[in-house]
This record gives sequence, structure tokens and C-alpha cells, in this order.
Amino acid sequence: MNTHIQSSSTRVDEITEGIFRISTPVPPSVVPGGFTFNQYLIRDTEPLLFHTGPRMLFGAVREAIERVIPVATLRYISFSHVEADECGSLNQFLAAAPQAVPLCGQVAAMVSIGDLADRPPRALADQERLTLGQHTVQWIDAPHVPHGWECGFRAETTTRTLLCGDLFTQFGELHPAITEDDILEPSEAARIGMDYYAHSPDTGRLLERLAVTAPITLACMHGPAWRGDGAAMLRSLASRLASTPIRH
Ligand SMILES: [Fe+2]
Ligand SMILES: [Fe+2]
Repeated sequence: MNTHIQSSSTRVDEITEGIFRISTPVPPSVVPGGFTFNQYLIRDTEPLLFHTGPRMLFGAVREAIERVIPVATLRYISFSHVEADECGSLNQFLAAAPQAVPLCGQVAAMVSIGDLADRPPRALADQERLTLGQHTVQWIDAPHVPHGWECGFRAETTTRTLLCGDLFTQFGELHPAITEDDILEPSEAARIGMDYYAHSPDTGRLLERLAVTAPITLACMHGPAWRGDGAAMLRSLASRLASTPIRH
């Protein structure tokens, strides 16, 4: 990743009621095959940003948010796990939004965010819900799925959207904002190529905990968002992870 990313090409699309996908393409000259970094903004009484993007994209993401709401009104800065593309700009957003606090799981708060963030986080327990206004988000612990002890996901229960982070990561820089086409095979190609999943025996059980939320939109961090039977898609992923492990 370098500064050749054209942040001016960052796009914003509402993928379901009040939830916006902010996506910056990365050309194949930077990441072979091309790539995207996506953030999701929930517009509500207490607006929530899920993923900040890496620090180098802070200006582009801030400008994209401003097309929807004033950045200063953000209330929660949230993410799945601790990595640059998940929360690299956390402190920049805390500075830009005086009422905002980091929102994460309890492990992330204990291990990293309590120290890394410029303001104390609000840590949610497994399955705990938080109302933003029209939307309600639920935190679901998913340690090591796909990676990171502190990893978890956020389900938005009103629109049945699963903010699914690195699950279903797909290469390519040109995608529709949301698709109903298959995302399992392209994401499996990425998994096999990069080996970015922890090799945990608990993965299937944890994916089933996501499936029971019955999402109809999967808000992916890399690639298009997806609309369809999310429970079936998550169970298909669990099946593939079990049947096609990567061995070294
Ligand atoms: Fe990650
Ligand atoms: Fe990621």
C-alpha cells in the first residue's frame, strides 16, 4: 500500500436503510489483482462508523463521511479487530468528533484500545446491544475468526445487516457497491492465496453464531457488499473452511 491510491475515487453508496458503504479502490499496481478498503457509516441519532480505514486514507474517508453527515457528529468509532485498515485512523476521528468514543469488544479494550486510543473505549460484552436511534447494533465475539483474539462482529438488527469485516474478502478494485452474485468462490480464492484465517478448531461454531442472526446484507470490508440469505452464505463458508483447510 502506498500513496498511489487515488483517494479522490472514494465512493459512497447507501446499501440499505441508513447504512452507507464508503469504498476506496486500490489499483493492481499497488496490490496485485486490485483491492478495496471499505468503511460503513450508520446514519442515526448517534452515528456509528465501522472501520476507520488506514491512516493514509483518513482525509478521503473523512471527506466521504461529510457527504452524508458532519464528521463532528460521529458518536461511535467501531471496528472488528485491531489492524491499520480497521482502526488506523481511530485517534484522528476521535479528534475530529469530540463526542465520539471507540466502541469495541471487551478483549480489544483490555489488550489494545484502552492504551492506544486517545479516549477510553466503550466495551460491549458478547451479544450486548446498543441502540443508536433507529438502528440497534449487537456485538458478537468471534475470537480468531478470521484472525485476532479480540475479533468480533457487529450485527445491525433493524436492517439485518452483518458488518462482517474481513470475512468474504475479495480482490479487485472495481465492484458494484452491493451484489447478489456469489461471493464465496472469489473470497475462497483470496483465502487460499493469502492464508489470512487462523487455523482454529472453533471457527465453524463461531460462524454459526453469526448465521443465527439471519443477516440479509453482508457488509464486507474488502469487495462488494452482498444481499441474500446470509445464514446460508455463512454456513457455506464454514463448510468450506472445514473441508478445505490450508496445510503448511
Ligand atoms: Fe484483518
Ligand atoms: Fe481488512
